[in-house]
Amino acid sequence: MEKNKELTMPTLNLLSILIFIVSSINAGADHAQLNHQNSWAKRVERGNEVTTTLQFYFHNIPNGPGPTSVRIAEAAQTNSSRTFFGALMMIDDPLTVGPDPSSRIVGRARGLMGSAGLNKFTLIMAVSYVFTDGIYNGSSFSLLSINEVLRPAQEMAVVGGTGLFRLARGHVVARTHSIDAMSVAIVEYNVTIATYDYSKHPHE
Ligand SMILES: *[C@@H]1O[C@H](CO)[C@@H](O)[C@H](O)[C@H]1NC(C)=O
Ligand SMILES: *[C@@H]1O[C@H](CO)[C@@H](O)[C@H](O)[C@H]1NC(C)=O
Ligand SMILES: *[C@@H]1O[C@H](CO)[C@@H](O)[C@H](O)[C@H]1NC(C)=O
Repeated sequence: MEKNKELTMPTLNLLSILIFIVSSINAGADHAQLNHQNSWAKRVERGNEVTTTLQFYFHNIPNGPGPTSVRIAEAAQTNSSRTFFGALMMIDDPLTVGPDPSSRIVGRARGLMGSAGLNKFTLIMAVSYVFTDGIYNGSSFSLLSINEVLRPAQEMAVVGGTGLFRLARGHVVARTHSIDAMSVAIVEYNVTIATYDYSKHPHE
């Protein structure tokens, strides 16, 4: 009798642990659901919390016949500075689904980029990423961040948004895909944004 008890207790415990693990996996799966996906954006809901991940390419064209980035201000010492400290650029850069500049445009990055490092080439970016594609048409997120351009990957902060990106908080991981002799830079962006779905709380 004693022996039997000793054998069944651990078996029962193991079973209940297994049941617990399986049911928590199921609960997790029920909780997070893919709400929308297209070639460059994925939206997952977990209760009221929405996580959106975006992947697109940013094209900054400072030279040539159709520049999308122009210098609008500079300091007396900017041109003699190794880092162009004090140069301020206004950009209206296309965002595309692929690295190829002729791939589908999904939005534009509009705003200011300034050279903010005295000794290190660093930009301050105050830029709105405004989308024109699919369900994101008319939505935007705002980036306000230092951009350590020379790092292999740059992390930047998303501080807000409009439309589907209302109350956005998040971050960008960007990596230079290519830069040519004319300084045209193509930058790969991976964006993770957390927002809150108001429609789940119609009385608020
Ligand atoms: C500094 O360089 C920029 C870009 O080459 C040029 O447009 C600007 O006129 C220069 N500024 C001065 C004060 O030389
Ligand atoms: C985006 O919205 C604008 C204004 O509502 C509309 O004119 C345009 O056709 C839309 N673009 C796409 C790609 O749906
Ligand atoms: C973006 O995400 C994709 C897919 O997860 C990955 O292959 C790529 O290296 C990432 N790029 C950056 C710049 O983090």
